Amino acid sequence: MSIAKKEYKRITTKTLVDMKKNGENISMLTAYDYTMAKIVDGSGIDVILVGDSASNVMAGHETTLPITLDQMIYHASSVIRAVERCLVVVDIPFGSYQSDPKEALRSAIRIMKESGAHAVKVEGGKEIKESIKRILNAGIPVMGHLGLTPQSIYKFGTYTVRAKEEEEANQLREDAKMLEKAGCFAIVIEKIPAKLAEEIAKSVTIPIIGIGAGGGVDGQVLVTHDMIGMTHEFNPRFLRRYLDLYSDMTNAFSQYIKDVKSGEFPNEKEQY
Ligand code: KIV
Repeated sequence: MSIAKKEYKRITTKTLVDMKKNGENISMLTAYDYTMAKIVDGSGIDVILVGDSASNVMAGHETTLPITLDQMIYHASSVIRAVERCLVVVDIPFGSYQSDPKEALRSAIRIMKESGAHAVKVEGGKEIKESIKRILNAGIPVMGHLGLTPQSIYKFGTYTVRAKEEEEANQLREDAKMLEKAGCFAIVIEKIPAKLAEEIAKSVTIPIIGIGAGGGVDGQVLVTHDMIGMTHEFNPRFLRRYLDLYSDMTNAFSQYIKDVKSGEFPNEKEQY
């Protein structure tokens, strides 16, 4: 687990690279709304990711593919209004950067201008190299995302561990180097063998932030709703639940319903 070695008033992309240099693990969680972002930022997190996992968690879609650029901007601006310290990174959603570099840049500019976010994240390696360069050339910081990239789920066909075969592992090694050379400030690596993730983290100077990629990388990210147990059907091995809010909230709602039905709520003190 991360032990803060230094007080940081405001986290920037440069802070994250410094953290890696200093051997300080980077903590990252998702948020999609003002109230959650306020709590997560206030807890001292380094990075909030406005992930396109909002498509699953907030909207109930089976995949991350349906969420739109407008919806991501709405979530990101709600988060930005809450944040005082951490770096806010926003996923560019599926269909808003894959077709050509100009479209990628337009989407990134909309996110930065309309939400006030600090950086964007894109999924993929060599196939989106030109788009990444275009966004970076406009002065917008880019976080990469390799390994299991949920926007490509229909290509993979399954959410199982990626890069177990040497060919895919080699491609991942090359893509990580390419993202570093292009100028990305960090890379999320999702669901790959821990040994490979550690090797990649050691081979680049930018931070590798893992999800299901073991402890040998430079930081960890989880979907907040999963780690606080608001969701309870998703149980991958890498997920540590710090709370069981699904049960706690169900109990609270049941008690409220009981109190309303019985007339126990509101009592004398809870009225004017
Ligand atoms: O969308 C998301 O929440 C993500 C994380 C799982 C890394 O990309």
